[in-house]
Amino acid sequence: MTRQHIAHRMKGISPFHVMQLLARAKELESAGRSIIHMEVGEPDFSSPEPVITAGKNALDAGLTGYAPAAGIPQLRKAIAESYKRTYKIDIDPKRILITPGSSGALQLILGVCVNPGETVMMADPGYPCNQNFVKMFGGIPQQVQVDRKTNYQLTAELVEKAWTAETRAVMVASPSNPTGTLLPKEELAKIHQLVQEKGGILLVDEIYQRLVYGVQSYTALDIANDLFIINSFSKYFGMTGWRVGWLVAPEEYTECIERLSQNIFISSSTSAQYAALRALDPDCEVIFEKRRLDFQERRDFLYTALKEIGFDIPVLPEGAFYLYADCSKFTNDSYSFCWNLLEAEGVAVTPGKDFGENNPQKHIRFAYTNNLALLAEGVRRIKAFIKY
Ligand SMILES: Cc1ncc(COP(=O)(O)O)c(C=O)c1O
Repeated sequence: MTRQHIAHRMKGISPFHVMQLLARAKELESAGRSIIHMEVGEPDFSSPEPVITAGKNALDAGLTGYAPAAGIPQLRKAIAESYKRTYKIDIDPKRILITPGSSGALQLILGVCVNPGETVMMADPGYPCNQNFVKMFGGIPQQVQVDRKTNYQLTAELVEKAWTAETRAVMVASPSNPTGTLLPKEELAKIHQLVQEKGGILLVDEIYQRLVYGVQSYTALDIANDLFIINSFSKYFGMTGWRVGWLVAPEEYTECIERLSQNIFISSSTSAQYAALRALDPDCEVIFEKRRLDFQERRDFLYTALKEIGFDIPVLPEGAFYLYADCSKFTNDSYSFCWNLLEAEGVAVTPGKDFGENNPQKHIRFAYTNNLALLAEGVRRIKAFIKY
């Protein structure tokens, strides 16, 4: 069969370039090469034992059917309680909907709020799937270039300048992927106010919320209720493969979101929701906090090591597990640099090309999702590659 029936929209859906690189890294590995992985945004820690047991127990108890589209009530309630415990804010569990990862949450919110032809503003560099999600619903991603001057985050001023009659929504992520930088709460409050005045909606991606180092995490729900939050069990909770996330929406939107969710997903995985419920217990939090400190140690090591050998990382990122480095001292083609580094030294990193149009050729994302010994070996190999 020919490919003639593939819809036009697929032309606009960009691939994840790093996936090709990852495939090559795996191929080299199966041929016996040692590869240091710093490319994927996935913690090397697996889900903690109590979480795995809770998932297994749910299956053993026969909980193998669909869950309610909005999620199991216990998990929605437990998430509300965790907002209360951590941020001292009251959220009605009815405003919390469980989704298949935060990817599911992003699709539901954009599907409910964005009309074809409307634009959705986002930072460039930024999380690559966002623009594809917007396009899936006929929206137009409006990428706003950000740089070191604003800590690679949107500001109220940038949003105001970029706003057009077609702008419908603004998406921000704090901490950000790929830069790991935070959006200060005061600036987010200003963005929120501006978006309200303009009659748009604000979507805040808090997937890396709890992975912050040396600063207090916050939630945008502390600023206002008329905004959308997405979050997930993937990163801080080390549950990428279970596919459980959540969203918090203004009350007026929950019925529509649930209706769309019933149609697109029917429900999120039932057993995974029971596992996620267990992840919110205080004994698991002890495990996650220990891991967070490990990430902090890795960040400190890699930041210093990469700067020492000539990568330019303008600000010490305070969150997530990424360093977004300017590599122009070594190359003006980060894409080839990454491929050559993999072939020559067996180090896999992500080229800037995956994160937008804002000088991607000058940038590389390093993920510190490996232990210190492996990171040190990675740095040793990078040094050999650049003949430091
Ligand atoms: C900023 C950001 N948002 C959303 C996601 C989606 O994650 P998940 O669907 O696993 O929750 C990711 C994954 O890397 C991300 O980096």
